[in-house]
Amino acid sequence: MTALTQSQIENYRPEWIREDFVDFVLGQLNPLWSLRRVKARVERVELIADGMAKLTLIPNGHFQGYVAGQYILVSVQIDGVTHQRSYSLVSTPEEGKLCIAVKPHGKVSSYLAFRTHPGSVIEISQAQGDFVLSPDNRKPVLLIASGSGITPMLSLARQALEQSSQPVTLLYYSRDPAFLSEFNALKQRYPQFTAHCVNTLETSERFSPEALQGYCPDYRDHLTFVCGAEQLMAAVNAHWQSAGIQSQLISESFLPPKASLDAMDSPVTFRRSQRQFLATGNLLESAEQAGLKPAHGCRMGICNTCVCTKTKGTVRNQLTGELNSDTNVPVRLCITEAVGPVDIDL
Ligand code: FES
Repeated sequence: MTALTQSQIENYRPEWIREDFVDFVLGQLNPLWSLRRVKARVERVELIADGMAKLTLIPNGHFQGYVAGQYILVSVQIDGVTHQRSYSLVSTPEEGKLCIAVKPHGKVSSYLAFRTHPGSVIEISQAQGDFVLSPDNRKPVLLIASGSGITPMLSLARQALEQSSQPVTLLYYSRDPAFLSEFNALKQRYPQFTAHCVNTLETSERFSPEALQGYCPDYRDHLTFVCGAEQLMAAVNAHWQSAGIQSQLISESFLPPKASLDAMDSPVTFRRSQRQFLATGNLLESAEQAGLKPAHGCRMGICNTCVCTKTKGTVRNQLTGELNSDTNVPVRLCITEAVGPVDIDL
């Protein structure tokens, strides 16, 4: 059999054969092949710190590249069910690699850390996200992270150091700090880089404006990125707001949305499947508790896998707090809660 070339695969335009069937056939020939989907071969899995593994991926030709600070969605099949999660890229485009770091907590991350190996093939998305450094930035950069919020900071630090000789300062709170050797290597290479790693198991110190003043006295002049635990995000946001420098702060949260404090049981109807249930939290969780299985991926409002049409009723977006009473509008079940009776076209 003659192997298909990448260009033959890319130029193929299916008319009456379903794309998923073509993908199935291509996947039998070579697990990396697909008409449009981005797949990646795992090149390496390495333990980089207590409880964290780094995966180096080689994507197929559909991957369109990325910039430092972005993330990808990774889809894996576990026991016949597809799961999807988002992971920050810890490499930079200049390295010519695609690397993610995972903490093996939860189904997908544990699967990636312990059940993938060199040669495994996984499906990924194009790179996404606005937690990025403009190539024109010439300001000093301050990076504040806690826990796994450190993952996008490594690539951002490298990018900032590559593109300018301005100071780059990292302030990192963690009970088991990751990437210490990488940050030490950056310190050796770039004299303008400073890293302050606070081990929160060894000290009671947490983020405070006073401590920040000690670590980075001129932080008001910096472009600041923050990513991490809810408390840290809230404290940094509040301080930047009160200091009137909110426009110099870029935040990214890995936190799943929370139900409103005043959320009440609301009757929800899935019209086409003719199922009704009471929803308190987000519609995805409530549907699952009622024994339904809506399609989903990230559960954080990122991947759009759970989008359905709301045909009636009022809902609240748990990320923004925004209410919507329009008919026939798309909603993401995983970040939407019902405020009164709601009908969904599902
Ligand atoms: S599951 Fe990803 S947006 Fe809802």
